[in-house]
Amino acid sequence: MLPNFLGYSFRTGLLILVMTGLCLGLLLTCKFSSNKNYLVGDQFAIATDHPLASQAGKEAFQQGGNVVDAFVAASFAISVLRPQSTGLAGGGFALVHTRESGKTVGFDFRERAPGLARPRMYLGIDGKPIGRESLFGWKSVAVPGMVPGLLRIHAQYGKLSRKQVVQFAFRLADEGFTIYPDLESAIRNSEKEMNPAMRKIFLPKGKPLTAGSVLIQKDLAQVLSRIIQNGEEEFRTGETSQLILAGMAEHNGYLRASDLETYSVEEVEPIRLNYREYLLEGFPPPSSALFLYQILSLLEIENLQTMKKNNPNDFYRFLVEAMRYGYLNRSVYGGDPRFISIPATSLLSKDSIHRAYAETKKLPQSKQKATIPETMESYNTTHISVMDSQGNTVSSTHSINYIFGSRVVVEGTGLVLNDTMDDFSISPNIPNAYGLVGALANQIEAGKTPLSSMSPTIVWKEGKVFLSLGAPGGSYIPNAILQTLVNRLDFGLSPYESVASPRIHHQFQPDLVFWEQGLEDTASYLEGVGYETKFSQNRAKVFYVERGEDGRIHAVSDPRGQGIPAVK
Ligand code: DON
Repeated sequence: MLPNFLGYSFRTGLLILVMTGLCLGLLLTCKFSSNKNYLVGDQFAIATDHPLASQAGKEAFQQGGNVVDAFVAASFAISVLRPQSTGLAGGGFALVHTRESGKTVGFDFRERAPGLARPRMYLGIDGKPIGRESLFGWKSVAVPGMVPGLLRIHAQYGKLSRKQVVQFAFRLADEGFTIYPDLESAIRNSEKEMNPAMRKIFLPKGKPLTAGSVLIQKDLAQVLSRIIQNGEEEFRTGETSQLILAGMAEHNGYLRASDLETYSVEEVEPIRLNYREYLLEGFPPPSSALFLYQILSLLEIENLQTMKKNNPNDFYRFLVEAMRYGYLNRSVYGGDPRFISIPATSLLSKDSIHRAYAETKKLPQSKQKATIPETMESYNTTHISVMDSQGNTVSSTHSINYIFGSRVVVEGTGLVLNDTMDDFSISPNIPNAYGLVGALANQIEAGKTPLSSMSPTIVWKEGKVFLSLGAPGGSYIPNAILQTLVNRLDFGLSPYESVASPRIHHQFQPDLVFWEQGLEDTASYLEGVGYETKFSQNRAKVFYVERGEDGRIHAVSDPRGQGIPAVK
């Protein structure tokens, strides 16, 4: 005779229990596996920071394009959709892997210092910065590389016509799209420094546009239409370049015709790291992947899963010290390898990193009070990750640097100019907008590329492309990529959990651990052992694609942002 269970027979009771368990399990899985930020496709997936940019990429793919066409279409589209973050007058890094070529190529189309740039150009005779010249206004603008960069990548690998990959962006600029909360607050927070041409677009009746209203960018649509006609010449000698140069001449900016005419997109070899059973491909300096690799090489000494299981506090303390180590190195050695010599081999030597481990474990806490930069907001810069079922992939971060860049629009173009000169170290002890300090390696020189935190990354597993990812978020970028990788590769979390789980951040200076909701216990432990900590939502947003064992593609747009992926 079977026992009764709350009046039900044992069998029915058991069935109810099993069903309840299954539902609960399903609910928990759903929380992490099926939501608008996480989609799975059979042939193709793209993760961006705006649903319409993801859509632009998907449409290019559906028209018979490959991952490069999809990337280029999404990139032009996001330039229109997130003018606070990126744009045609910005620049970036892209890692492109195609099965056909059998290799991964890096494209550096980041902004460069103009020919007139000098090391002390933003300092007065007293050695102090002249106002905020490196951050706002015509003088903060570096030579843009976005259009030559995108068109070069497209010409080398794309299958669709130029018109097909620019058309979606053209329509968005010409017909408009609905303003979303992030753009609304970026407009409100930047309004003060905007030049008149910029105010005409974002404060058309003298008041900032708000979420729900439609942003139409007719001048920008015309620039896109001329790009379809004239290709990169439009940004070298064409009407758009003439308008930029006229603005520069009128407002004492530094860009000259020769800067635009001679801008050169650089093809570079990725840097590689074996991390446990994986192979990582990243962008060489002036990206920060080298320092991200140092942190990973340090972490590799321990079995992180066991360490975290035994005592999560030990793991987080180790993570903080590894971050401090990597960011300290970044501040000393980070810069443009075409201008300085970076001892990359020794910086990446596992022997010397392992030697540093002993020291790192007992690195003294700085007595200096942490100085938190005035603002470190997260509306700027963007990343696109795209992959197909063959493992062709593009991982590209691009930017105009700060929120709405220089806050200058060139009359008649709708182009928001970058302020990427601020990514240089304008003087060794003056932190940039992200609180990052730099040394001589990153001092300003004509033609030089400023050090960047942008670190697009591709990961291989057993000889096959496994995942690719990257993030915007200024100084937070390398640490966000790091934690996403550790979550996935060491802890085996799902793609969504790997991106969404709470993160910490330490960037050497300020000497402070930033932590997110969910890490309260970690923060109080760290405070207890002498670290200064501060609650703050992680400013990086990770965009991630992964090819599963079954060949399906998983895509995650970080839930910290407003983007959603698209799949097919
Ligand atoms: O290249 C860099 O490091 C910066 N220009 C990136 C800026 C950025 O990600 C801002 N996001 N919050």
